[in-house]
Amino acid sequence: MPEPLNFLFLILFLSLATATSNNNNGLVFNGFTNSSLALSGIAQITSNGLLLLTNYTKEALGHAFHPTPINFIDPSSGQPKSFSTTFVFAIVPQYPDVSGHGLAFVISPSKDLPGSMPSQHLGLVNTSDNGNRSNHLIAVELDTVQTVEFFDIDHNHVGIDVNSLISSNSSTAGYYNKNRGQFETLTLISGDAMQVWIDYTGDDMMLEVRMAQINTTRPEIPLITSLVNFSDIVPDEMFVGFSSSTGAASGLHYISGWSFSLQGTAQALDISNLPSIPRNNTQRIKGPSMVLPVVLPLIVGLLVFTSVIGYFFLVRRIKKFAEIKEDWELEYGPHRISYKDLFDATKGFNDKNLIGSGGFGQVYKGTLPQSRVKVAVKRISHHSKQGVREFVSEIVSLSRLRHRNLVQLLGYCRRQGELFLVYDFVENGSLDRFLFDGEKPALSWSERFKVIKDVATGLLYLHEGWEQVVVHRDIKASNVLLDANHNGKLSDFGLARLYDHGTNPQTTHIVGTLGYLAPEISRTGKATTSSDVFAFGVFLLEVVCAKRPMERNAQEDVLGLVESVLESWKKGNVLSVVDPNLECLFDKAEAELVLKLGLLCSHPESVARPSMRQVMQFLEGSMQLPELPIDSLGSSARLKSYGIAFDDFLATSLSTSTIEIFSDEIYLKHS
Ligand SMILES: *[C@@H]1O[C@H](CO)[C@@H](O)[C@H](O)[C@H]1NC(C)=O
Ligand SMILES: *[C@@H]1O[C@H](CO)[C@@H](O)[C@H](O)[C@H]1NC(C)=O
Ligand SMILES: *[C@@H]1O[C@H](CO)[C@@H](O)[C@H](O)[C@H]1NC(C)=O
Ligand SMILES: *[C@@H]1O[C@H](CO)[C@@H](O)[C@H](O)[C@H]1NC(C)=O
Ligand SMILES: *[C@@H]1O[C@H](CO)[C@@H](O)[C@H](O)[C@H]1NC(C)=O
Ligand SMILES: *[C@@H]1O[C@H](CO)[C@@H](O)[C@H](O)[C@H]1NC(C)=O
Ligand SMILES: *[C@@H]1O[C@H](CO)[C@@H](O)[C@H](O)[C@H]1NC(C)=O
Ligand SMILES: *[C@@H]1O[C@H](CO)[C@@H](O)[C@H](O)[C@H]1NC(C)=O
Repeated sequence: MPEPLNFLFLILFLSLATATSNNNNGLVFNGFTNSSLALSGIAQITSNGLLLLTNYTKEALGHAFHPTPINFIDPSSGQPKSFSTTFVFAIVPQYPDVSGHGLAFVISPSKDLPGSMPSQHLGLVNTSDNGNRSNHLIAVELDTVQTVEFFDIDHNHVGIDVNSLISSNSSTAGYYNKNRGQFETLTLISGDAMQVWIDYTGDDMMLEVRMAQINTTRPEIPLITSLVNFSDIVPDEMFVGFSSSTGAASGLHYISGWSFSLQGTAQALDISNLPSIPRNNTQRIKGPSMVLPVVLPLIVGLLVFTSVIGYFFLVRRIKKFAEIKEDWELEYGPHRISYKDLFDATKGFNDKNLIGSGGFGQVYKGTLPQSRVKVAVKRISHHSKQGVREFVSEIVSLSRLRHRNLVQLLGYCRRQGELFLVYDFVENGSLDRFLFDGEKPALSWSERFKVIKDVATGLLYLHEGWEQVVVHRDIKASNVLLDANHNGKLSDFGLARLYDHGTNPQTTHIVGTLGYLAPEISRTGKATTSSDVFAFGVFLLEVVCAKRPMERNAQEDVLGLVESVLESWKKGNVLSVVDPNLECLFDKAEAELVLKLGLLCSHPESVARPSMRQVMQFLEGSMQLPELPIDSLGSSARLKSYGIAFDDFLATSLSTSTIEIFSDEIYLKHS
């Protein structure tokens, strides 16, 4: 490397090394500019980099957590790990001698402490769960109000809280001054910056808290100590951060620097470079000046003018964001997402945010304005009131379905003629983009095998794991989404059934997708868990071969994917169908298992197909795949059943409805 470049790299390296670092679980924040803390409540980062947990808003709370979870327990020994942390805070009261309610350093299983209350609860717990062992909460509180129900010793104390605001040990704020041999009290609400040190030793399980004015050394003697058995309290993954609240009295709760280290001493803060904490320097309102009599009429005129314009815009705005809400929807309140939020999230349903469309409508990506949650918004048109209630109640019930292999439905919104379903946004989009057209890099075999197991797990949960059986109806590669780590998530589950509520006669409703339709659907017209297994079988072949179930350019001979796999199996070289992009880098036994399982699942006779539970056992190797009677899967029989089935299907359906085919998806339009 030439000299100047070398030098440049050195500078780059040094500047990276001095910036906020968080390797080895060591965090150092000398000010919080550009820090990625997860904020909730009214917490904010000020323009000069202070973490302001609360302002003078009454009855409010603020949380700020480091977004990466930390494991406090050594997995091999089960013993708690040591840690050490230090931070600089200041509390600026609204009135000289009252402030509320204080702040706390928190170790919590969640980043936003759901259900927590402000005021004396410090944003940590609420009236019903204070003291509950399932809180898994450890906090060091700097409490500025004496709360009798929690046996607080005074209105200026430091306490160690384990699952409860009744501190296990507490003391008036201050430190032991060794030189003078006496205790020096510190006033938490003085507005002065102070430093706190919290140290925990895994061996003896001692938690120690110290504090002092800023710019003084760490006191030798701890202010309070408490035996805290972390192994007994905290689950695997915990978040560290701060919580604060205000009540009838309020204060500004600032943190200007923070350092945290697991298994080591927290790195020292760069005290002289911390952002400075403003004193309460709010300007006194000045007396009337000579300018006022001249300017006042002008201002009044301007005000009248702007309010007329404002009114005009307000009316327009109200129309623009109007929603339909009915009384029966009240109970679904939490699942309802406002149209304005969706509009803002998707930048006004901008084409740039469009990530998909189909017979049902369009899908947009976006970020919800308040929570900053990334979402995918599905916009479906519907025009009648009929069935809406059932539809919405099903949506709400589906949004209670939570599984890591299912795309989470977050909520819905209704408007004149439109319905919106809001899902978690999944980073890498649909699997078919990785399989076909070379749009995304091909997945390795182990990634494919993992996705197959993920989808099987999600589908098993839909079929057997929930309070009611949910038939997916439209399993296929394009309905499988991959997250950032290529974990597979099934999307659009249960939606097909939702369409059955036929919100209006013109609503197209999806029947399934060509090539994935189980033959019996044509006879019975009903989708079942077994027809899901059929489609899952086709999906397996799709993933292994990276071929669509019915290639559209295969002109006269519509030999589907299933048939071509069968053919090659009969010829004794089933592995010849495996995606050439894998360049023979795949586990032969696994690939053969998946191909044969694909054929078994897509058996023309529904009774011959395994259940998803059995599929799972085959995939995990806990059960041997039975020898497949290759002839019963026979190509001619299968082809026949396919052909007949589909013709039948078209014939019977056409008599009652019109059929629309939208890039392989079959929709029924009732007439
Ligand atoms: C913070 O980020 C902005 C833009 O991302 C950048 O311009 C600025 O220099 C960063 N500030 C610090 C202190 O790193
Ligand atoms: C406090 O902060 C919140 C959110 O940051 C803001 O909406 C509110 O106006 C502020 N209130 C006061 C009294 O400063
Ligand atoms: C602090 O500022 C508030 C206004 O935000 C003011 O009402 C109050 O008097 C100030 N308190 C002190 C101690 O200066
Ligand atoms: C208290 O918080 C818990 C979560 O920890 C929540 O489930 C519960 O509903 C809350 N209770 C009240 C009364 O807010
Ligand atoms: C503690 O919380 C759990 C879960 O939130 C709840 O099931 C249990 O009843 C609570 N225990 C007490 C004593 O309130
Ligand atoms: C509280 O902390 C003090 C100071 O470290 C200690 O002497 C005392 O034993 C502790 N009390 C309890 C109950 O842990
Ligand atoms: C700490 O808690 C763990 C888990 O409950 C328990 O096995 C262990 O004995 C406890 N240790 C002490 C010293 O109490
Ligand atoms: C702390 O000391 C540094 C220099 O040693 C000084 O610049 C800074 O103002 C001091 N801060 C406080 C709050 O006293």
